[in-house]
Amino acid sequence: MVLRGGKPLNGEVALRGAKNALPKIMVAALLTDRRCTLRNVAGIVDVLIVSDLIRALGGEVSSPEPGVLEICAANLHPMERSVLKEFSGKSRIPILTCGPLLARFGEAPVPSLGGCRIGSRPVDFHVRALQNLGAQLHDETGNAHLTCERLHGNKIRLDYPSVGATEQVILAAVCAEGVTELSNAAMEPEIMDLIMVLQKMGAIISVDVDRVITISGVRELRGFDHAAIPDRLEAASWACAAIATGGRIFVRNAKQFHMMTFLNRYRQIGGDFSVTNDGIEFWRAGEKLRSTALETDVHPGFTTDYQQPFVIALTQADGVSIVHETVYEQRFGYVDALNRMGAKIQLYRECLGGLACRFGQRNWKHSAVIVGPTPLHGAEINIPDLRAGFSYVIAALVAEGVSTLTNTGLIERGYENLVPKLLALGAEIIE
Ligand code: EPU
Repeated sequence: MVLRGGKPLNGEVALRGAKNALPKIMVAALLTDRRCTLRNVAGIVDVLIVSDLIRALGGEVSSPEPGVLEICAANLHPMERSVLKEFSGKSRIPILTCGPLLARFGEAPVPSLGGCRIGSRPVDFHVRALQNLGAQLHDETGNAHLTCERLHGNKIRLDYPSVGATEQVILAAVCAEGVTELSNAAMEPEIMDLIMVLQKMGAIISVDVDRVITISGVRELRGFDHAAIPDRLEAASWACAAIATGGRIFVRNAKQFHMMTFLNRYRQIGGDFSVTNDGIEFWRAGEKLRSTALETDVHPGFTTDYQQPFVIALTQADGVSIVHETVYEQRFGYVDALNRMGAKIQLYRECLGGLACRFGQRNWKHSAVIVGPTPLHGAEINIPDLRAGFSYVIAALVAEGVSTLTNTGLIERGYENLVPKLLALGAEIIE
């Protein structure tokens, strides 16, 4: 993508279902042999990958109209090694099929995983939780797989409130025998959406105080008809684009309730917004943006996926900002290219913040000090991951001159119709 920057983005974009909700809801459809209908489906690569995965497992996926998927897993079969090989490496989702496959066939291979390269991203929590539910791990070289008669409920405590591991436990425990009490669970809105789908299917799941989720196993689940929640991460990305470029963007379908932490920060650094029933409009409150100090955290903290686009806005803020990334150890890989564009960002191994973090004293550069405002200029950039990719697009739109971005396909994993949306907002895309 070749872009010429220096112009504010103005206009409207519309959100559809959340990238981090849709694929998990699709996996939930594997728990039943009944037909399931998923609405508000975004045309993003991650949805296509999971559709292909379900088909490769013998399920049917069709789209009777735009934005709607019908899934039927009546003829599902166990996962063959060749399927595992094809899909692991493409996405984080295959690991989440373990629970449904164990429930239906008593066996599931354990994939090594793809997804954005932003840290080591192991699957130890997933495997340990499944073992706690009674699955047995067989670990012949390169062919790890799990087996069970029927999973049994248990008390499980996650070492860290991992989104994927929480979803893993929920998807595995819904059809287990007895009650599972998951503590230190993640509580992201996308997880709540998955729980609502499962409740529609007949599951009994309660979300209690202090990060505890209790799942009473049932024998059978039925189909669902569900519209996925809108993508709050995309909403935040456009919000950052609005204040970084000095424009005004109405994000149709954005929901205040999902984004309260982000909105508070946004206002603190000089962004403003107006909430209506149809969405949220974002713009700069005054001439200048203000610096801040923040730490990423699990929800309801400041989500790590907001971090990169927010940092682009902070390069345009007056003063010194500090960002402590506590979720992924390597989520500042995109900073070098930003500095080449004129940003002044220094990375530190120390924890520059008060949150107990797993990466302190462990040699990861996971804190950033951003000095602003800095004019940016165009550059040639290869995109390393999804959120960094979108952030480079914003940086290129802030910058004077022309930028060339390669590997933009990665952005399509999570941002639907990126180029048409940018053009509608007045971005100058040369090719
Ligand atoms: N972790 C482990 N062991 C595990 C699982 C996780 O150590 O078995 C660690 C990870 O290495 C990481 C932390 O726990 O340091 C949190 O990882 P989590 O499991 O919460 O992440 P995830 O489920 O793999 C999802 C989103 C990410 C988002 C994170 C955090 C999907 C498909 N991905 O990943 O989304 O950053 O939760 O909110 O839902 C993105 O949208 O750009 C993106 C990367």
